Amino acid sequence: MTLELDVVTLFPHQFDWMRGSRPIANATGAGSLHLRVLDLRDHAPGRHRQVDDAPYGGGAGMVIRVDVVCAALEGIYAAPVADVLAERRVAVLTPVGRQLHDEVVTELAGLERLTLLCGRYEGFDQRVHDHLANDAISVGPYVLSGGEVAAMAVVDAVTRKLPGALGRDESHLEDSFSEALGGRPEYPHYTRPEEFRGWPVPPVLLSGDHGEVARWREEQSRLRAGSNL
Ligand code: ADE
Repeated sequence: MTLELDVVTLFPHQFDWMRGSRPIANATGAGSLHLRVLDLRDHAPGRHRQVDDAPYGGGAGMVIRVDVVCAALEGIYAAPVADVLAERRVAVLTPVGRQLHDEVVTELAGLERLTLLCGRYEGFDQRVHDHLANDAISVGPYVLSGGEVAAMAVVDAVTRKLPGALGRDESHLEDSFSEALGGRPEYPHYTRPEEFRGWPVPPVLLSGDHGEVARWREEQSRLRAGSNL
């Protein structure tokens, strides 16, 4: 199965670097990801291609127009917006959306069609949230200058879950917060040298006893989680 993942943004070039990034290039090569980055401004009406306007009621900043976002969705998918929303997940990036926990990432990675709408300025006209989207995602309770950095976090985290995204030796299955770790943080990692400036590697990791290593890792993961579950 391929995840058709579209990002709609006023700054498509900000995503250029992602194409070469390993999970994305790998997943694309493996056929599990088809990523497109689309310019919202291409769908703005008029000679000036204005995408935003001053807020009704006054106040600072500019608001992205509902008609521009609607034209973008209907233009990109060549279908009325009701059909677009019936066929795909359309998620607005916003600090007041659902927090991007690992379960949300897993849920998004299981979709076939996902569109991420990146806001700027004061964000989108509320009617975008109410009528042109069926999801809202936040990467954390803080305000970024736009949805682009947030969308990149979503694209990267979701792509890691797709088949072929990670190298042969890697696995997302035991990533921090994964089901395999009961949602807990991952255990600590060490590599050579065995001792550096008097800081040793925990002896159990050098013991060659896989059972002991597994027990130690589980314990460390629980300690990091701050729980003794
Ligand atoms: N846009 C601005 N801040 C954001 C955040 N924290 N998460 C998602 N989108 C955003």
